[in-house]
Amino acid sequence: MFQLPASPLALIKDPILDSFKVKLYLKRDDLIHPEVTGNKWRKLKFNLIEAKLQGFNQLLTFGGAYSNHIYATAAAGKEFGFKTVGIIRGDELTPDSNATLRFAHDCGMELIFVTRLDYNFRNRLTRQYGEKFYVLPEGGTNDLAIKGVNEMVDEIYDVLNPDYICSAVGTGGTIAGIISGLRGNTKAIGFASLKGKGLLKGQIEKLLPFEKEFELNEQYHFDGYAKTTPELISFIKGFEERNPNIMLEQVYTGKMMFGIYDLIQKGYFPENANIVAVHTGGLQGRCDELKKTAINQASIV
Ligand SMILES: Cc1ncc(COP(=O)(O)O)c(C=O)c1O
Repeated sequence: MFQLPASPLALIKDPILDSFKVKLYLKRDDLIHPEVTGNKWRKLKFNLIEAKLQGFNQLLTFGGAYSNHIYATAAAGKEFGFKTVGIIRGDELTPDSNATLRFAHDCGMELIFVTRLDYNFRNRLTRQYGEKFYVLPEGGTNDLAIKGVNEMVDEIYDVLNPDYICSAVGTGGTIAGIISGLRGNTKAIGFASLKGKGLLKGQIEKLLPFEKEFELNEQYHFDGYAKTTPELISFIKGFEERNPNIMLEQVYTGKMMFGIYDLIQKGYFPENANIVAVHTGGLQGRCDELKKTAINQASIV
């Protein structure tokens, strides 16, 4: 019932990669669904199944004003027949405050705006609103989300035995799903999108069902969540020009790809390495500067 097609694994054709003798593949999870894209679908899938099994037809979740998770949960609710409620951080907001909230509202999500202080007490809010709802945590990360990401890793192994699998990191759920799905000698590298306080690695370790080595790179956050620089935007534009059927955004996938390219050029990866980067979607959050270039707009699915 809750099935969407497997996403393609695309080889990136780029002279820069050839000159450093590595192969870079993109796991095109951005193509899974027009709105429930990328890691959001992976994290939601088994939660939707569980919600139905437990007899719930309503989902309740949490997020900030620009949350990709709110966006995707609202779209999934509409697509798969769940009523949705989003508890949003910021009591000054309205459904018209931005395109994410407008979209969620238009999908039928009931938006409840709470103060930042109240938002910190999510357990209390859950008790207040949550009785009849299947509750998804902020960012959608829980054990079932990790199981969904494991499935994405299996899809990669169906095609290729990579040396590295890379992903952007926010809450850490996606990279935890990748790490716990690894086989053989494949290594996982997470690229933090947020300027951490040194706690992110431990946070990811807590999400892992067993101990496993992984690398967390915190060098490419560009000063923090949703921050950007002309260098990052120019990298994304250059990448999109060379790959006209792929788009990135500046919050997650753009930073990860910048990091991978930078590491390639610094000789971090051995010759002939097969590197898979996971496209975790989020393209609706492209900034105006990227929207303006519109090179690849036609390929927004
Ligand atoms: C597009 C996109 N990529 C990557 C991430 C990071 O995923 P995670 O929170 O599981 O680390 C998120 C969300 O948090 C996201 O929206």
